Amino acid sequence: MKEPLLIDFGKLGDKETGFISVAQVEKTIPFEIKRVFWIYHTPESIHRGNHAHKQTDQVLIALHGEIKVTLENVRGEQQVYVLSSPERGLFVPCLHWRKLSFSKDAICLSIASTSYEEEDYIREYQEFLALNHHNH
Ligand code: TYD
Repeated sequence: MKEPLLIDFGKLGDKETGFISVAQVEKTIPFEIKRVFWIYHTPESIHRGNHAHKQTDQVLIALHGEIKVTLENVRGEQQVYVLSSPERGLFVPCLHWRKLSFSKDAICLSIASTSYEEEDYIREYQEFLALNHHNH
């Protein structure tokens, strides 16, 4: 099973002129990129996510603000990550149930390994828990 991983993109530039961070296949992104989307204007009271993917791997980056990501794998193990720097990303492999909460004005960039297909989503938590039952 693939494991979540924090990715350090580093940064180019300086305080006087500003910075660039780069996400590039085979350097900092561990899959071929098929899709990029971004999530913004999320109220602080909302939990997004609440799903897992059958195939899709993703890297999440808090371009602005702070994003709390709670991941659960098919063994039922949970981990919480706080993304608060545009220099940092979180690799979220397939088959990880995710919950995301956002600070005011947070912007989440998501880099994905697949094109959008609703069939790739597991949206029922019971269905996700059943994977655990099948695997062990
Ligand atoms: P979803 O992935 O459920 O968002 P979140 O987990 O952040 O709440 O997507 C929300 C809606 O947008 C859902 O109806 C599917 C649609 N959508 C697309 O059509 N294409 C995409 O690439 C994505 C990510 C979502």
